[in-house]
Amino acid sequence: MSEIGVFEFRGERYEFPVEIGSENEIAIDIKKLRGSTGGIITLDSGFKNTGSCKSAITFLDGEKGILRYRGYGLEDLAANSSFLEVAYLVIFGELPKKMELERFENTIKSHTMLNEEMKDILDGFPKNAHPMGILSSLTGALTAFNPHSVDVNDEEQMYQAICKTMAKIPVIASWAHSKNLGKPMNYAHNDFDYIENILQMLFTKRNERYKINPIITNALDQLLILHTDHEQNCSTSTVRIVGSSHAGLFASISAGVSALWGPLHGGANQAVIEMLENIIADGGDVEKYIAKAKDKKDSFRLMGFGHRVYKNFDPRARIIKSAADELLQDLDMDDPVLAVAKHLEEVALNDAYFVERKLYPNVDFYSGIIYRALGIPTEMFTVMFAIGRLPGWIAQWREMRLNNEPIGRPRQLYIGENQREFKPVEKR
Ligand code: CMC
Repeated sequence: MSEIGVFEFRGERYEFPVEIGSENEIAIDIKKLRGSTGGIITLDSGFKNTGSCKSAITFLDGEKGILRYRGYGLEDLAANSSFLEVAYLVIFGELPKKMELERFENTIKSHTMLNEEMKDILDGFPKNAHPMGILSSLTGALTAFNPHSVDVNDEEQMYQAICKTMAKIPVIASWAHSKNLGKPMNYAHNDFDYIENILQMLFTKRNERYKINPIITNALDQLLILHTDHEQNCSTSTVRIVGSSHAGLFASISAGVSALWGPLHGGANQAVIEMLENIIADGGDVEKYIAKAKDKKDSFRLMGFGHRVYKNFDPRARIIKSAADELLQDLDMDDPVLAVAKHLEEVALNDAYFVERKLYPNVDFYSGIIYRALGIPTEMFTVMFAIGRLPGWIAQWREMRLNNEPIGRPRQLYIGENQREFKPVEKR
C-alpha cells in the first residue's frame, strides 16, 4: 500500500507521496509542494532534514553508528580490502573481480603523468600557498588540459575519465607539498602500487630510493578507506550540485576540494593538531580548554569532537582509534601532542557537557594523529582526506549524471526590503 504525507495549511489539505528507502528510511516527496500550494516552500538551513537525491552508494545511520559502502560494512572493508578495491566498489557498485581490479590499477598507472605546463601554473603560487588551495586550483586547471567533455553514457569514456582523475589528483597533491618545501616535483612510478606511490611521491628525495614501510602503507590504506565516501556531506553535495549544471568531473571535484577545506568539514583534522599544539604552547592545561569549549560566550570549539549525523559514535573513529593506537605502538613514538590528545579525549568523554550533547571524537580527531605519526605535515592533512574522498566524489558525480538529475537550484525565503524608490547619491 502506498503511503502519503499530509500537510494542512489555512484550512487546505495537501497530500504528498512517501518513498521508503532500502533501509526503511522514509522521505516525503515534496516535488509538487510549491506548484500545488500556490507557492509554499520548505525552509531547512543546513539541509538538516532535506534529502537532495536518491542514492545507492553509501548508507549511514547516525543513531546506530552504521556506515556501509554499497551494502558492505566499513569494518569488513577496512579489515579485508584495499583502498583501490573500495574505490572500485564505491564507483562501479560491485567489488572488482581479479581481472577488473588489475585493469583498474593498470589504467590508473597509465594516466599518472601530468602535462609539464601544469608546473608553470604551480610556479605562479607563492611558496607558502596552502596545499588545499593549490590542489583545488590545479584540479580545476586539469579541465584546460582535458577540454573535451566526457559522454557520461559512454562506459569507456567514463572509465578513462575516472582512472585519469584517480591517477592525477595524488600527483597534484604531492606537487602541492613539494612546492611548500621547495623540493623537485615527483611522479608516480609503475613499480609501486597506488598507496605506495602516494607515499613515495610525498617523501622521495632525488638522491635516494624510497623504502616501503608496510606499517605506514597499511595505516594510510585504512585511513583512505574510511574517508572514501560519506553520502551527502558538504563537499559531496558541492560536487553533485556543481556537476548538476553539467560542469565536468575535474571542475566539480575542484569545487569539492574547496568545500572540504573548511575547518567544520575536512579542515578539522588540521585544526585538531593546531588546537593540540596551542594547548601545549599555553602550558598544557587541558581542563582550561574544555572549559572554553563549554563557555557559550567563547567561540572556541573542541576540534575533532561532534558530528552532524553521528550522534552516538562515529564508526570510522572506532576503527581509526585502534589503528592509531597500533601505529603509535609499532612506530614507538613519544610525542607530546599525542599525549595531550589522549588526555583531552579522556576528559571530554567523561564530561557531562559533551556526554549530554553526544559529542564524541570524530574521524578527524584520530586521522590528524595518524597523519602526524606518518610524518605528513599538518597543512597536508586535508589534502590526504581529499585523496581518500576522491572515489566518493567520482561515484556521486557519476550517479547524479546517470540518473539525469535536474540542475540544483534551491529556493529561498526572502526577508529583505520591499520595493523602494531609487535615491540619487546626493539625496542619500
Ligand atoms: N565543541 C564544543 N561544543 C560543541 C562542539 C564542539 N566541537 N560541537 C558541537 N557543540 C555543541 C554546540 O555548541 C551545541 O550546544 P548547545 O546545544 O548548547 O547550543 C551542541 O553541541 C550541538 O551543536 P551543533 O553545532 O548544533 O551541531 P551540528 O550538528 O550543527 O555541528 C559539527 C556538527 C561537526 C559542525 C560540530 O560538532 C563542530 O563544529 N565540531 C568541531 C569541528 C569538527 O570536528 N568537524 C569535523 C566533522 S567530522 C568530518 C566530516 O565528516 O566532515
